[in-house]
Amino acid sequence: MTTAVSLDFIKGLPKAELHLHLEGTLEPDLKLKLAQKNGIDIGQTTIEEVTESYKFDSLPSFLNVYYPAMNVLQTEEDFYELTIAYLKKAQQQGVKHAELFFDPQAHTSRGIPFETIINGYYRGVQEGENYGISAALILCFLRDMSAESAEQTLAEALPYKDKFIGVGLDSDEKGNPPSKFAAVFQTAQQNGLKRTMHCDIDQENSIEHIRQVIEDIQVDRIDHGTNIVENQELVDYVNEHSIGLTTCPVSNGFVVDDMKGKEIVELLNQGVKVTVNSDDPAYFQSYIADDMYALATKYHLSKEQIIQLAKNSFEIAWISEEDKQTYLAAIDRYTNE
Ligand code: ADE
Ligand code: ZN
Repeated sequence: MTTAVSLDFIKGLPKAELHLHLEGTLEPDLKLKLAQKNGIDIGQTTIEEVTESYKFDSLPSFLNVYYPAMNVLQTEEDFYELTIAYLKKAQQQGVKHAELFFDPQAHTSRGIPFETIINGYYRGVQEGENYGISAALILCFLRDMSAESAEQTLAEALPYKDKFIGVGLDSDEKGNPPSKFAAVFQTAQQNGLKRTMHCDIDQENSIEHIRQVIEDIQVDRIDHGTNIVENQELVDYVNEHSIGLTTCPVSNGFVVDDMKGKEIVELLNQGVKVTVNSDDPAYFQSYIADDMYALATKYHLSKEQIIQLAKNSFEIAWISEEDKQTYLAAIDRYTNE
């Protein structure tokens, strides 16, 4: 298998990471360190044992490993340290801008105050510039919890509104359609927040969920959403409304045993603003440039297609027009070198 460019070229290509769960960046070494510091028995004592425990073959089986691991995050400093560890990795991958998901309910539900979580993460993202990265936070609601819980979470978060730029929706999609969260997303919009939602791969009612997300909720972006390729009307709709998709091919390979590369390339060829992202890189052992390289290699992407993916990431980022032009010019400079 070949691709038109090297991994080093992709690492150097300026890019934005738009689909990354901060809790999904918990590498085995940091997990062990925090467990020890906080006196938490996680059932493993070596990096190898932790790595071995990161096993799953579906979204629910992944989430069953993912949520318990978060117990090691206890103090503001822990959330800060997790963010800094990610930023260091992202710098090596050519990330210049990052919009990072976090799941407050996964922590407040086990007694961690919202303030602890947001202050730790926010202190981390503010230091992004030390790594050449402008970073921001997106607060995600857990869709397998109630709509009331999401509403309570937003009410608790609004006093900190200057510390996050938007809201998202993640966790287990089965039986939890976007429409369940229409009201809380409307409140978020009224408060000037951007909006995105996961439409995970090959879900029951995938197409109907995508329809709800773009037509009823009117999100600014869709996370995953590659099943849209099955419905030309919806593809035309996202193109007309410039709604981008944050796809995660390596993650897909773990949870549905298929990178969905054919679908991603088809959407790219149809002019959809698709991007490649890493989702939960500590669990899928692949950061963003690795993800782009994996897709490019397996599906023989041209250099132009790879550059288009990077350009799309800035075009659909929640940044000013001026910043977009600055990043796009940086891509042109890099690719014309
Ligand atoms: N939480 C973390 N990663 C996720 C994913 N890929 N889908 C839904 N929820 C998630
Ligand atoms: Zn995700």
